[in-house]
Amino acid sequence: MKKLLALSLVLVVLLFAAGCAGAEEEKSEITIGVVVYDEFDTFVGQLMDVFMDSVSDAMAKNGIKINVIRQASAGSQITQNDQVEELIKKGCDVVCVNLVDRTDPSMIIEAARDADVPVVFFNRELVIQDLDSWDKLYYVGADAYDSGNIEGQIVADAFNSDESLDKNGDGQMQVVVLEGEAGHQDAIIRSEYSVSTIMNSGITVDKLESAIANWKRAEGQTKMARMLDKYGDEIEVVLSNNDDMALGAIDEYDSRGITMDDRPVIVGIDGTDVGLEAVQNGTMLGTVYNDKEKQGQAMVDLAVALALGQDPDMPDLVDGKYIRFPYARVERDNVSQFLER
Ligand code: BGC
Repeated sequence: MKKLLALSLVLVVLLFAAGCAGAEEEKSEITIGVVVYDEFDTFVGQLMDVFMDSVSDAMAKNGIKINVIRQASAGSQITQNDQVEELIKKGCDVVCVNLVDRTDPSMIIEAARDADVPVVFFNRELVIQDLDSWDKLYYVGADAYDSGNIEGQIVADAFNSDESLDKNGDGQMQVVVLEGEAGHQDAIIRSEYSVSTIMNSGITVDKLESAIANWKRAEGQTKMARMLDKYGDEIEVVLSNNDDMALGAIDEYDSRGITMDDRPVIVGIDGTDVGLEAVQNGTMLGTVYNDKEKQGQAMVDLAVALALGQDPDMPDLVDGKYIRFPYARVERDNVSQFLER
């Protein structure tokens, strides 16, 4: 009986010690790996700036050291798969991934699951089946439908309040669309919903053409040049899936010396620094703010919680996996608010 008592005492002491050791194991240093699809993307670049600022804040707030290892995949999913494997090998506690091909995350998920390293995907949204394939996968982004609807609303309101925007007076709106990458969730949804919102406001839309310009300013200009050669001043509205391509369209009008009075209405999405400036100086009628501050902050909050092995019970987390922030309407009268952010 004595022996049994002594044995259980030892057991209790051992369990207690193990418990303490567990508590002591609270990490004082974590490493986050981050990989972006392309280092030259304007919006993603600015999102990363917010991310890095939020990392500094998180270090102060949590009293821990946070290392960040950053990579860019130059538009190749194969390169990105290798980069993520490498980040995991280097001991990252969590990786944040801006997929190149949002339909092909399988290698990354497999590598992460094998090493039990959680993944926070961002900006380029994977399909639900992939996100659901392991419980340590998350997504941080924005509500794409919202962006298309708001862009359409800006244009519809302008047309419904100013008849002169219908330049040829035919009672219809002649539109061209500059689209982001084929297959990107934002490009697909924005292209469709910007136009349908305008139509739902009672305006007949005559869509002259859509051109894919892959989110890029230079490609936006090239595609705009081609459409301008073809349709000239028939174009009344340029609906762009992002600010950079809208700025490319503006570059083309500038290079042809076409004055503001003879230009169509041009609208973008993102509210990048250059996009907001264009709204302020009136070359762009409006933009739709893609909330990089909230997205960057949420990525860091989530990544830190996961790296520390905490339950990420953040208020914005939907179904335990998604964080999607709303967009905001930006026009000349409220642009200063966004320039200050
Ligand atoms: C942004 C684009 C950006 C793309 C990259 C979109 O949400 O609006 O500007 O190029 O994400 O994935």
